[in-house]
Amino acid sequence: MCRAVFLLALTVLVCPAAEALDNGLALKPTMGWLHWERFMCNTDCYKDPNNCISERLYMQMADVMVKEGWKEAGYEYVCIDDCWPSHQRDAKGRLQADPKRFPGGIKKLADYVHSKGLKLGIYADIVGKTCAGYPGSLGYYETDAQTFADWDVDLLKFDGCYMDWKLLGEGYMNMSRALNKTGRSILYSCEWPLYEWPQKQPDYKAIRETCNHWRNFDDVYDSWSSIKSILDWTASHQDIIAPSAGPGGWNDPDMLVIGNFGLSHDQQEDICPRSKKLLQNTDIIAISQDPLGKQGQCTIKVDSFEVWERPLSKKRLAIAVLNTQEIGGPRGFFIRAAPGWKICEPQCNVTQILPQYKELGVQTPHTKLVVSVNPSGTTLLTVTPTSDYAGLIL
Ligand code: GLA
Repeated sequence: MCRAVFLLALTVLVCPAAEALDNGLALKPTMGWLHWERFMCNTDCYKDPNNCISERLYMQMADVMVKEGWKEAGYEYVCIDDCWPSHQRDAKGRLQADPKRFPGGIKKLADYVHSKGLKLGIYADIVGKTCAGYPGSLGYYETDAQTFADWDVDLLKFDGCYMDWKLLGEGYMNMSRALNKTGRSILYSCEWPLYEWPQKQPDYKAIRETCNHWRNFDDVYDSWSSIKSILDWTASHQDIIAPSAGPGGWNDPDMLVIGNFGLSHDQQEDICPRSKKLLQNTDIIAISQDPLGKQGQCTIKVDSFEVWERPLSKKRLAIAVLNTQEIGGPRGFFIRAAPGWKICEPQCNVTQILPQYKELGVQTPHTKLVVSVNPSGTTLLTVTPTSDYAGLIL
């Protein structure tokens, strides 16, 4: 994926360690909506018609994504997770959607989602059954890939529950090839390393060549402790996982859960305005979608603060300061203690993105600027060096 090769030194800066899956997709991290964390395997449309896994849920989500500014902000994929299929394959061995919950079938749902200018994702599993016990794809990789292509599906989340870990690599690669063989561009989201880590260190070169993104760690829950565990895992494994991230292939920390309850069917029209504003914040999205595509890393843990830094295009840097002390009030952090602050030599321009947008003006390496960070909160800045000299030392 690293096409513009000017200088060796430059390619080292902009290219991840291995080639990405060459399907032209996920050049930036995927943005969209996935049903799992909020709606799970709720299939009881009789008792709970507004929250069950049915075509209605995805159609309404597509409507909301257009109407409420999500599509405009860059959210593109509407993704089905587990529990969508019928428990039986059809006479030709193809997966079929549960006929009661998806009376129109997946093709019609894909047409609807596409008519809104969005894309549709679907879910399957590498062995004989999915994590929730629905039919899996083992023995049917080519059939299922072709079925998804015939339905005009745009993304496949391929789960790895119940697979003998020694066969994970082979299975994920075979499905990748099967998807490629259909000729349709289908973004391929894997859970290969998540299931391999308990046994051995995964081969991230092979994973990047096979998948467009890959889950490494546990499912996210709607709680701060779950988010913290994902952050901790990521920080403690970043030397292994971060180099493999870049245009075409990404480490997937699972879903954002901000405003999650607000995104339930009942409340989707009135998601709490503050959560909506955060999820649609164009400055944050610009950091996520920055074309340089380098993964952010935890660069220092000090005095119950964590600093996370992400190099951005045009020699800029995003700095997030997290206050991990969950007692007391807001605490001040001397921003010059962030290791990446060296790009402020001789000067830089600083913008605070969170908690409120604020221009913090021109700063130097020796600035006394202190940023305030709430307990378990994050202050997010972007830093732009103001001279070529500073750019050279990035
Ligand atoms: C696993 C995955 C989740 C979700 C469920 C569905 O736990 O990690 O993201 O897809 O299966 O059953």
